[in-house]
Amino acid sequence: MAGASIGCGRLVPVDKLLIKGGTPLRGAITVSGAKNAALPILAGSLLSAEPIVIKNVPQLKDVATMITLLQSMGVQVTFDDKLNVEIDASKVTERRAPYDLVKTMRASILVLGPLVARYGEAAVSLPGGCAIGARPVNLHVQGLQAMGAEVAIENGFILARAERLVGAHIVFDTVTVTGTENLMMAATLARGETVLENAAREPEVIDVANFLIGMGADVSGAGSSTIRIRGVEQLGNVEHVILPDRIEAGTYLVAAAITGGKVRLNQASSDHLEAVLVKLREAGAEIIIGEHFIEIDMKGRRPSAVDIRTTPYPGFPTDMQAQFCAMNSIADGVGTIKETIFENRFQHVLELQRMGADFEIEGNTAVCRGVEKLTAAPVMATDLRASAGLVLAGLAAEGETLVDRIYHVDRGYERIEEKLRQLGAEIKRVPN
Ligand code: EPZ
Repeated sequence: MAGASIGCGRLVPVDKLLIKGGTPLRGAITVSGAKNAALPILAGSLLSAEPIVIKNVPQLKDVATMITLLQSMGVQVTFDDKLNVEIDASKVTERRAPYDLVKTMRASILVLGPLVARYGEAAVSLPGGCAIGARPVNLHVQGLQAMGAEVAIENGFILARAERLVGAHIVFDTVTVTGTENLMMAATLARGETVLENAAREPEVIDVANFLIGMGADVSGAGSSTIRIRGVEQLGNVEHVILPDRIEAGTYLVAAAITGGKVRLNQASSDHLEAVLVKLREAGAEIIIGEHFIEIDMKGRRPSAVDIRTTPYPGFPTDMQAQFCAMNSIADGVGTIKETIFENRFQHVLELQRMGADFEIEGNTAVCRGVEKLTAAPVMATDLRASAGLVLAGLAAEGETLVDRIYHVDRGYERIEEKLRQLGAEIKRVPN
């Protein structure tokens, strides 16, 4: 296949995005459902034998991969064209997540807790590292062991089994989003009460908890650092609407900021983006917030540089770090960005430097001196949010930027070139 790449062990078409920069973005778009809520919630459907309906599911590569994984286990999945997915997990035949799927999407680890909770066994391939870091899953495993599961790591697989999980008091050494979600889901069918301390507080964790409660689970405290789950005998059916994707929303807000434009995001939830909105206002943006929209207006101004330090929610999200590196590249002044969550999440900086950005990386800190203009260059995406950062840089750069390996983008952004064109960007997908 011309231009194919052995992406994650499978031949994938290597499309590119061609972006002609310099146009201030203007207009309105609708934010899609949150990828990082859809993935755990789809996995959580394994917990019930009753029909599950999930609405506002984003049409993303990672969602398609999760659905393929569920189908490989015997789960019946049907979806209509309105982004609604119907799931029937009454006849699960396989309790196994194979390597070829897990390595294309680490979030496959989210089937581990539901499988052990409902079937007493699971074989899930270890996800391994990725471009942004080692991404260990020790906290997921230790939590299951604390709940009585026997876990062995053999031939690259996590083999877990338990007659029935037993509630435990678990204190996470590190705040882990999917670790919190995995163990919260596992605990819904355990005998007795589970307490998760130092739990992740992300809005997506709350959305997963609401989904579980809708199925009849007894969960309280989601959104705080302490979540209590009292196990029940079985879970029922639910119809759940996925919350809006705050990282997609934040990415388009930065697209407006970096091009000096004015953009309105419909179906966006501003209370999930507080830390990002504070920084955009510091950069000189005027922000108007409504019931279900956020509007940003740069009034044609160049953004001012901002200092960022990524921390777990409600702090500044690491998934918005690359986008702010792009904005700082052309901002007025010096901006310092400190990445405290992942150990290797500055790969986009190397590509921004090829576009003329002035960065100095010192350990987990990137110091950026803004330049008036970036110059277009062929650049390569390395991970999902890095690719978003490069697209944003292309929107601001002089000339035509070609972003390669944009299958990374398609993992987390629904129809990105369509939404950007709706805002007046000159962008198109070109086959290799
Ligand atoms: C989730 O990943 C998100 N993915 C990531 O979004 C996001 O960047 C990350 O949380 C941090 O907010 C999904 O929700 C599907 P973590 P997750 O466990 O859960 C360490 C995107 O772009 N850790 O919260 O895998 C880990 O190394 C993706 O949409 C352990 O040490 O991240 C990291 O330093 C990228 N042991 C820190 O915790 C463990 O067992 C936070 O990781 C688990 C994690």
